[in-house]
Amino acid sequence: MSAVDADRLRSSLARALGDSKVLVGEDLVHGYAGDESEQEPVLPDVVVLASDRDDVVATLRIASELGAPVTPRGAGTGKSGGCVPVCGGVALAMVGMAQIKEIDPKEQLAVVEPGLVLAELHAAVEAEGLFYPPDPNSLKMCVLGGNIAENAGGPRAFKYGVTRDYVLGLEVVTAEGTPLFVGRRTKKGVTGYDVTALLVGSEGTLAVTTACTLRLVRKPDAVATLLGLFANIDTAMRAVADIVGGTTKGRGLVPRCLEVMDETCVAALRDEGFGVDARAGALLILEVDGDAIEVERAMEEVGSRAIDAGAADVLAAQDEAQRGRLWDARRQFSLVTRKLARSKISEDVVVPRTMLASFVGQVRAISERHQVRMLTYGHAGDGNMHVNLLWDDPADEPRVELALLELFHAVIAMRGTLTGEHGIGTSKAQYLALEQSSELIGLQRRIKDSFDPKGILNPGKIFPRTGHGSC
Ligand code: MLT
Ligand code: ZN
Repeated sequence: MSAVDADRLRSSLARALGDSKVLVGEDLVHGYAGDESEQEPVLPDVVVLASDRDDVVATLRIASELGAPVTPRGAGTGKSGGCVPVCGGVALAMVGMAQIKEIDPKEQLAVVEPGLVLAELHAAVEAEGLFYPPDPNSLKMCVLGGNIAENAGGPRAFKYGVTRDYVLGLEVVTAEGTPLFVGRRTKKGVTGYDVTALLVGSEGTLAVTTACTLRLVRKPDAVATLLGLFANIDTAMRAVADIVGGTTKGRGLVPRCLEVMDETCVAALRDEGFGVDARAGALLILEVDGDAIEVERAMEEVGSRAIDAGAADVLAAQDEAQRGRLWDARRQFSLVTRKLARSKISEDVVVPRTMLASFVGQVRAISERHQVRMLTYGHAGDGNMHVNLLWDDPADEPRVELALLELFHAVIAMRGTLTGEHGIGTSKAQYLALEQSSELIGLQRRIKDSFDPKGILNPGKIFPRTGHGSC
């Protein structure tokens, strides 16, 4: 934006919302410039601290009138640049709208504001005997609005599905500042297009969420967590195929989580002081839930399937404290692996589960061919792999880019997909055409245009940065 336009924007917002909700100046706005991805932070011209829907309506009306970009923002834990205000303008901070408006145990739903921290939602519904399954690993920090924007997943997605499967309806404000309710509160409903499903995962490019109606399920009575010790990632991946796909001994099984960590990850955990069993080269975390009898049986089945597939051992967490420590180790992966190099990209590609063993072989070959350090962990149960590329010297970047491109080509050749939970954002926009036809990208651009005719909502995301929708 030009300096004059930015000044006009700031003064119009301050007049409408009051000075306390409008942050101006580098010191105050720099905390709203970046996220957890490799995307360079970009300072917004102004930050709005929304505390209710009226603030969002006023902000969007002003921005629309002035043609100013608006980037909605939750906790900034995203991994694809989704909330980075790459075109400047307004960073619209939603964390001040964090109320739980309603939990209805009989209808098994909750209505919450977008700034609510996910772990707080988990605790509140579980106190009522209910369960909200999506559990991205940033759950102690990330907020519902961001989860909805990115259609977040997490380890439990294997059994329970992702955020979209739990959003019944949304209260949103359009780019022009019109409040709308889309969706429903009922179990079933097929009226009109499924606009709710479209908005979930639209990365803040179509509308701004101001409240979410979420479907809940009954909290499982019992949970058990197992740790499978494997000599290497290849054996662990073959075990995943046997567990989920079945063998001559029995049908496929559905533990609620099935997470894998390769040799580099296990070594990094040891370096961090986590006492990992010496027999483990690679690890699987397997978690089952249900009633007490189901859990006993599932532990038995899953454990013996892992042993048959070559696990050196399968250990069961003995109590909540041990379970907690196991998940703490897993949830810290992103941070632990960040220490391994000066720069890192964490991808979240998805491949068919039957291809996982061949996939890790291809990752190894790409790493060797381009001399780029790579490690792999992630949600093996649903084929969603966090391949991380690590490098120290900026001069290595061209090789990293080639390795990344080759990785994406390999994934598409396996009929996989570029992103399973982090979104396209800015990080993968240039690769969108590897997976989608120009006709499909064009159709999505037209959808974007009809929601946001002036192209002010989160510009520079999803689509390659040319033409309408770019800065
Ligand atoms: C995870 O599964 O840990 C998160 O999706 C973040 C990541 O490591 O890329
Ligand atoms: Zn993940």
